[in-house]
Amino acid sequence: MEKTIDESKQGESLVLEQKTENSRKLFIESYGCSMNFSDSEIVASILHNQGYNTTQKLEEADLVLVNTCSIRDKAEQTVRKRLEKYNAVKRINPGMKVGVLGCMAERLKSKFLEEEKIVDLVVGPDAYKDLPNLLAEVEDGRDAINVILSKEETYGDISPVRLNSNGVTAFVSITRGCDNMCTFCVVPFTRGRERSREPQSILEEINDLWSRGFKEITLLGQNVDSYLWYGGGLKKDFEKATDMQKATAVNFAKLLELCAKEQPKMRIRFSTSNPQDLTLDVVETMAKYKNICKHIHLPVQSGSNRILKEMNRLHTREEYFELINNIRRILPECSISQDMITGFPTETEQDHQDTLSLMEFVKYNFGYMFYYSERPGTMAERKMEDDIPLEVKKRRLDDVVQLQRKHSEFRTKAYVNTVVEVLIERESKKSEQQWSGRTSQNIVAVFPKGDFKIGDFVTVKITDCTSATLIGEGLGLSNQ
Ligand code: SAH
Ligand code: F3S
Repeated sequence: MEKTIDESKQGESLVLEQKTENSRKLFIESYGCSMNFSDSEIVASILHNQGYNTTQKLEEADLVLVNTCSIRDKAEQTVRKRLEKYNAVKRINPGMKVGVLGCMAERLKSKFLEEEKIVDLVVGPDAYKDLPNLLAEVEDGRDAINVILSKEETYGDISPVRLNSNGVTAFVSITRGCDNMCTFCVVPFTRGRERSREPQSILEEINDLWSRGFKEITLLGQNVDSYLWYGGGLKKDFEKATDMQKATAVNFAKLLELCAKEQPKMRIRFSTSNPQDLTLDVVETMAKYKNICKHIHLPVQSGSNRILKEMNRLHTREEYFELINNIRRILPECSISQDMITGFPTETEQDHQDTLSLMEFVKYNFGYMFYYSERPGTMAERKMEDDIPLEVKKRRLDDVVQLQRKHSEFRTKAYVNTVVEVLIERESKKSEQQWSGRTSQNIVAVFPKGDFKIGDFVTVKITDCTSATLIGEGLGLSNQ
């Protein structure tokens, strides 16, 4: 650019050049966990600096990126279907390039380029900073791939472009990867070893969000409670750290406190907590700060000790009950949610009954329930036979879903005639006369719009409910 232009016209040329560059259009969509949605915002930021602006219209895109999920076979099938759709669009818009990001890219690597002719670019979750180079290759007419997993990459220095944002809530990633090796789970293979992001860059991101009007953040990681900053490096190498590094290390409870203090009016959430890594100092920190939301997503997967062991979940049913009792004691108002898997290899009817009785004990506020899907390369796939017939997996899933519905209803009903604080996020999907937001406990509440606006914290009297939603009337702005 500097080569040919005369000094006096530099400003003009710069504007012109930016305009030309920014006319490139990126269509990016995400599947799977919140981390993927958060990563897509990092990718949009990297590509913004390459002159790409995002578009919601697939047909006009110069570059289409799909951030993929491998967690269950169904998630992968959804992505394959999307690729068919891109193929149809490419017939009308032949210059369009297509890239695959995320866990499927990592899992399938160059196989993707062989299997799906439409794909020009394959980029794993730790290689997004290489996108400018990879795109240059694609523009030269070559397929490009980078699926190298990193020991350091946390994208801590990148300020994400908020996509499809309501301007009120945002994700902030704090760890990447997972070391837990649950035997059913593909994540440790697709996202690599666990590493934590520097606290200062997390606080800076929170401050920036607050200054732009955001009111709630969710600290994200596959396993947030195992967050550990000791100056960089993998979690598993902490033992090799110096005494000084060990003495000044920041664990998750400390990070949570730092965040809560940094912006005392910002709501702080976090997800996900593996029960074996959630320590009571985290629960105590939650109790100490009003702005830390009173909700813990605490996936258990199964209520049977034998199955928990086969899954390499490193706690027993009894230890889980103890943890639940401690949470209830320290934080009686805390809501608790679950993830469950039905039909894990060798699961008997008795194991399934153990899951139902565990649920009966906890009475979760809500949950995400799945039937087991065998994932290539995992320990369960290598060592166990996927021996539970699909109809049995589905019937057990149905039992679990029905029971959860009953418990959700029980929990939601308990809020009727109480007063809660709701942060307004959007218009209700069911009525344009109503706002929709969430309580500290992560329960959706709707109420008439009145004079309130998006981003307001409102004191709401709950008058009615469905199994998942609270219905109420706004009493006034809350002063938090
Ligand atoms: N720690 C992660 C959990 C990973 S995946 C998080 O942050 O969400 C989310 C959920 O998907 C898991 O808790 C589990 O219930 C489910 N899941 C993972 N692997 C699965 C598999 N092979 N089959 C069915 N469900 C699975
Ligand atoms: Fe997966 Fe277990 Fe980690 S579910 S993401 S290996 S905590």
